[in-house]
Amino acid sequence: MRLNEQTLLEGHKVVLVPYKKYHVPRYHEWMKSPELQQLTASEPLTMDQEYEMQKSWHLDDNKLTFIVLDKVKWQDPDISEEDSMCGDVNLFFNDADDSSVAEIEIMIAEPSCRGKGFGKEVLLLMMQYGISKLSVSKYVAKIGMENQVSIKMFTKLGFSQVSISEVFQEVTLDYSITDEVKGQLAQQTSHMITQQYAKTIGDVCHGSED
Ligand SMILES: CC(C)(COP(=O)(O)OP(=O)(O)OC[C@H]1O[C@@H](n2cnc3c(N)ncnc32)[C@H](O)[C@@H]1OP(=O)(O)O)[C@@H](O)C(=O)NCCC(=O)NCCS
Repeated sequence: MRLNEQTLLEGHKVVLVPYKKYHVPRYHEWMKSPELQQLTASEPLTMDQEYEMQKSWHLDDNKLTFIVLDKVKWQDPDISEEDSMCGDVNLFFNDADDSSVAEIEIMIAEPSCRGKGFGKEVLLLMMQYGISKLSVSKYVAKIGMENQVSIKMFTKLGFSQVSISEVFQEVTLDYSITDEVKGQLAQQTSHMITQQYAKTIGDVCHGSED
């Protein structure tokens, strides 16, 4: 969706930026990993397909995507934005009965970025953005049964298990956004700074930045 195409969200450890064309090569590299394909239930794509996917996500009114940057690297003028990338986070509005329900997905693709609290902060920032900009009333997460790290992370954030699919080997968790939860999330993300997104100075942009 185009809502966040010029939005940057800055947290303590991570920075979220819209997914642009120049992020695709790194993203494509990540998705060659069989481990990540399995954990995110994704099929490998060619580079051209990955470019098409980025474009379609940008224009899809039901999908919101941010790329996750490591803030320490992002602040370093000698490191490019592409070299600061460590993952992505998405919202899908795919509930036919309730347009305020969003499925949330996260990937901290760079192994060196895991276990540092990035995933947790990314989810908090994304949930707060979804509530304030898109009036999300409930978040849903679908996670592979074997992905205990992810299940633990979502549970710690307040998600509860609603179902298990033996067929898809997947658990579904959800988190209703009550007024109390809204208050808690606002507090947990009070440090978040929202800025106009501009690619890091010094980086060269090629062609359209869509
Ligand atoms: C799952 C994932 C997003 C977690 O992100 P992360 O940045 O490594 O997680 P964080 O450091 O923020 O930790 C958040 C919580 O996850 C849990 N966790 C993180 N690493 C863990 C580990 N190695 N073992 C057990 N639990 C762990 C903990 O509950 C932790 O909270 P705590 O530190 O307060 O105890 C990341 O590992 C990842 O993207 N993995 C590959 C793709 C994937 O599995 N995506 C999810 C598909 S649904």
